[in-house]
Amino acid sequence: MVNKLTILKLGGSVITKKSKALTFNRNSVEKLSKVIKKFNEPLIIVHGAGSFGHYYAKRYGISSKPTRSTKHVVKIRDSMQSLNRKLVEIFHQNGVDTFSFSPIYMYHNRKIPNIWKNTLQKSISFDLVPMTFGDVLLGNNGFYIHSGDLIVYDLCKLLNPKRVIFASNIDGIYQNLDDNSSLVPIIKNNKNNLKFSKINYDVTGGIKTKITQSLKIANLGIEVQITNGLNSKNLIKALKGEHIGTLFIGDKH
Ligand code: IPE
Repeated sequence: MVNKLTILKLGGSVITKKSKALTFNRNSVEKLSKVIKKFNEPLIIVHGAGSFGHYYAKRYGISSKPTRSTKHVVKIRDSMQSLNRKLVEIFHQNGVDTFSFSPIYMYHNRKIPNIWKNTLQKSISFDLVPMTFGDVLLGNNGFYIHSGDLIVYDLCKLLNPKRVIFASNIDGIYQNLDDNSSLVPIIKNNKNNLKFSKINYDVTGGIKTKITQSLKIANLGIEVQITNGLNSKNLIKALKGEHIGTLFIGDKH
C-alpha cells in the first residue's frame, strides 16, 4: 500500500478558547470538521487539551513528571473525555466518522506496541478517522501528562506517515510574536534564536516543545508543517501539501 497517511494535530488553541477555562470553541470545530470532510484522504487526528486538560493540570500541579498524588487525575481525564466527546459529535454531524480512544489504551511502558499499527490501518481502511488526544497516562512511578505532540511523534515512528500538520491558532512560528511580518517559513535546526509565547495553562511546554517535536519528526524523513487551524483555506492547503505556514526540514532532507 502506498503510504498516503497524514497525521493532523489539532492544538488546544483551535478547539478551545485558551484564555478562558473550560471553554469549547464550537465554531472552530464546526469549520475544522468541514475541512476534514473535504480532505478525504487517510488521516489520523490527535487533539490537544487547551483550556480543558491544561486548566486542571495546571491547577492541580500535574505535569509530564510522574506523580503519586492521584486525587485530581480524575478531573483532568474527565475534562479530556468531555472535550473529546464534543469533537466526536460535531465531526459525526458533519460526516466525519471518528474512531476515538484515550491514549491510555494504546500505550504500554511508554510505547505504542506494534499491534496498534494493524488496528489503526484497519480502521482507516473502513473509512474511519482514528482520533486520540493528550491525556493522563499511568506509568510505574505514577500518573503523568502525555501531550498530543508526543503522541504524534510516537505514531510517526509506528506508521511512517507522508505528512504531519500541527494546526495552531497562529500562522506558524514567529521570530517575534509582536511582529506580524516575522513568520519563519522554514526551520532547519533549533538555533533560530526564537522567542516563545507564554500561554497561561500550558503544562506541556507550548511552542518550544512543538518546535523540538516537529524537528524530531522531520528527522524521521516526514514532512512537518505548523499552520493556522482557524483559517480553513490555509489548513486545507497544508493538508494537501502546500507550504503555507512554518515547514520543518530534517537532517535526511
Ligand atoms: C495536553 O495535551 C494534555 C493534558 C494537559 C491533559 P497537549 O499538550 O497536546 O495540548 P495542547 O495542544 O497544548 O492544548
